[in-house]
Amino acid sequence: MLFKKIKILIVDPLHPDTLNHLQNKFDITYKIKPTQAELEILIEDAEVIILRSGINLNAALIDRAKDLKVIARAGVGMDNIDLEKAQEKGIFVFNVPNESSRSVAEFGFGLILALGRKIALADAQMRRGLIKKTELEGFELQGKVLGLIGLGHIGTQLAQIAHGFEMGIVANVANPTAERQVELAERGISLRSLDQVLSSADVICLALPLTKATEHLIRLPHFRAMKPSAILINLSRAKIIDFNDLLLALHERLIRGIATDVVSDLKEIHTLSQFENVVLTPHIGAMTQEAQCRIGQKIIKGIEQALGTSSSVIGNDRNAQEQLLI
Ligand code: MLT
Repeated sequence: MLFKKIKILIVDPLHPDTLNHLQNKFDITYKIKPTQAELEILIEDAEVIILRSGINLNAALIDRAKDLKVIARAGVGMDNIDLEKAQEKGIFVFNVPNESSRSVAEFGFGLILALGRKIALADAQMRRGLIKKTELEGFELQGKVLGLIGLGHIGTQLAQIAHGFEMGIVANVANPTAERQVELAERGISLRSLDQVLSSADVICLALPLTKATEHLIRLPHFRAMKPSAILINLSRAKIIDFNDLLLALHERLIRGIATDVVSDLKEIHTLSQFENVVLTPHIGAMTQEAQCRIGQKIIKGIEQALGTSSSVIGNDRNAQEQLLI
């Protein structure tokens, strides 16, 4: 018997095994980073869309999608999806909250070392034939304090790795209950206010989701609260930091430097590239074979389950989102 295959639009890279599996079962349109105009057309008859953080699935796009039943977010952050509009249209939305945490945390330590030990700068200099060892002094992590802003899946993994480096760990969470305080103290993590974390940490890691409450969380007074010797690592979203205030902090040398896996646009990349104490990467924290393979498996399962269920609820893992916030 002939039957119509479900139309799936994929707009961000997926693990090859996931893609093969989906291509065998569904009618797949695979268009990485489509332009706005292309997306407006492609989404019109998509029944499922699979995306990561590369596309902003706003209300206008969701409105154009007359057949859309499922939005599958192959990753954690939901800040690029208009969830209210999806809910209004009865579209099932889900994310994959935990499968990339280890990769992002390991990558975070890569950034800490790239900046703290000036590995990225040394590499850039050597490619230009320059050997400037006196400019390349760094610092050890042993005995230093890691300050975590956000203690969800990624923050928890960062803390685990930090123990191996024999670092002290302080953290700021949105809901510091007495119970949580005790439980975290047993794991060697002290809960503190945001200002206390910022002023006591040698390495500050942002590992929290972008929401209305966290947008521009880090502003000039926060930079002023940090140790001038501190480094800041952004594994979250660019907009957690006020960009103009970051520039002021770098110009005034309020911190030793920043390593960020996230920027808002090309202009920001260009501006930040002018600083030697900035390390830039193009949002690759979750880009490991292992994480993408696990995420792909969850995406397949999620889509198959969603297509077999009623589509009247938002099925994203809100607990996981909230965990990242706390
Ligand atoms: C995420 O939220 O999981 C990250 O942004 C990685 C991604 O999906 O691109």
